[in-house]
Amino acid sequence: MAELKGNVVLVVGASGVLGSEVARQLEAEGATVVRSGRNPARLGGADSVVADLGSYSAAADIVAAAFTAHGRLDGVVIAAGVVAFGPASDVSDETIEQLFSTNALGPIRLIRQAIPHLTLSAAAGRKPFIVTISGIVAESPAAGLAAYSASKAALAAFVQAASRELRRAGIRMLDSRPGHTETGLAGRAIAGVAPAFPQGHEPVDVAKRILRAIVDDEKDLPSSAF
Ligand SMILES: NC(=O)c1ccc[n+]([C@@H]2O[C@H](COP(=O)([O-])OP(=O)(O)OC[C@H]3O[C@@H](n4cnc5c(N)ncnc54)[C@H](OP(=O)(O)O)[C@@H]3O)[C@@H](O)[C@H]2O)c1
Repeated sequence: MAELKGNVVLVVGASGVLGSEVARQLEAEGATVVRSGRNPARLGGADSVVADLGSYSAAADIVAAAFTAHGRLDGVVIAAGVVAFGPASDVSDETIEQLFSTNALGPIRLIRQAIPHLTLSAAAGRKPFIVTISGIVAESPAAGLAAYSASKAALAAFVQAASRELRRAGIRMLDSRPGHTETGLAGRAIAGVAPAFPQGHEPVDVAKRILRAIVDDEKDLPSSAF
């Protein structure tokens, strides 16, 4: 069982609905949370780093700021992401770029930057972890969401492969793949219009399930776990 009390955890996308709820629940478990996001007004918390994952330097800057503030890093939760809707034949180059940049490339760069710090955490006897939120589309790519699904599947594949490498260093990676969740994300799509979804999960429940997986040392959170 992972002890969160005293752990320093970086939450990226902490200005979002799921990210802010995960951050709140981590603090309730005794973790020190460093929040990162684009929008300072929505970020909150004492410790925060404003950065846009679209820039190459953001991953290094975010991880360095979190580590420098506390001299250690024991966990990373990546809850940043954007969605776009519409047929594959219509998706623009700009939309494809933004989806892959935010949902896959930025998170992959962040993970890479965090590994040395998490390796130190493991060497100090703690149980470091990395959590991503790819989503159900990484398991079941959906019509009208081809580029979004592909960007999320890219991240999920990276995590699955890297988790096998990092196990030896004592770092646990956990990709979570919830289905539609009532965060309003669909209404903030960067392109296209969302179809009518059936009622989704409650954000607080999704965050709770992710927290339980962190504490219970779970290694994967498929859509069926939500
Ligand atoms: N809601 C769902 O149905 C669902 C289901 C499965 C998976 N997910 C995934 O869960 C994650 C959280 O989504 P949510 O539903 O909580 O949506 P949300 O409230 O819109 O949160 C999205 C977060 O991503 C951040 N973000 C977007 N572009 C960014 C960029 N270029 N650089 C840095 N941060 C950026 C936003 O920051 P700002 O607020 O500062 O712009 C915000 O913190 C996403 O990856 C999403 O794909 C959601």
